[in-house]
Amino acid sequence: MTQKKFLITGGAGFIGARVCRQLLELGHQPIVYDAFVQYISPFESFYQKFLEWRFKGIREQVIFERGDTRDKYDVHRIITKHRPNVIIHLAALPIADFSFEHPEETVSSILLGALNFLDSIKDQDFVERFVFASSSMVYGDFLEVPCPEDHPKKPKDIYGGTKLAGAVLVET
Ligand SMILES: NC(=O)c1ccc[n+]([C@@H]2O[C@H](COP(=O)([O-])OP(=O)(O)OC[C@H]3O[C@@H](n4cnc5c(N)ncnc54)[C@H](O)[C@@H]3O)[C@@H](O)[C@H]2O)c1
Repeated sequence: MTQKKFLITGGAGFIGARVCRQLLELGHQPIVYDAFVQYISPFESFYQKFLEWRFKGIREQVIFERGDTRDKYDVHRIITKHRPNVIIHLAALPIADFSFEHPEETVSSILLGALNFLDSIKDQDFVERFVFASSSMVYGDFLEVPCPEDHPKKPKDIYGGTKLAGAVLVET
């Protein structure tokens, strides 16, 4: 199999680190692009331990780049530097409860981040695929469980609404 370069925004997080491990097992090169932010209290934080656990045994094989998806110039820099074949866009404020208190940060981290990447790759033919992480919060109250992917979308809060807007942005 041909080795591909995967740029994973938010790649240092809970899901991103697992994605990196899986990509390495499949023979690909993961590149983590992450602002290394945490949304829990710094006084209760195990952040450094989380990073050590998540990248145990694979740290040297992953390329780490610090950066913020809301900074369009830095996004452009990282795209032109690494020329990834696939972008897995996970970086976002990930906690629905937190989004009530920080609506602007929610919107900028979910929408502006996605927009900057879409804009930066629109003329780059080396990018084969762009993957956007949505959320079950786009559905609102589930009418059936398990909730099918084509369930009606009726988000009830800013987090779900912004994730839905992000998915629409990516599809257009
Ligand atoms: N964990 C879940 O159960 C779940 C469920 C549904 C959807 N998701 C989505 O999956 C994605 C990843 O979730 P997770 O649980 O791994 O979250 P996480 O908080 O563990 O990881 C998110 C990562 O994104 C980074 N980040 C945040 N804002 C950034 C920015 N502006 N620029 C660069 N990096 C930034 C953080 O530093 C962090 O490393 C998110 O988009 C989240 O909304 C997660």
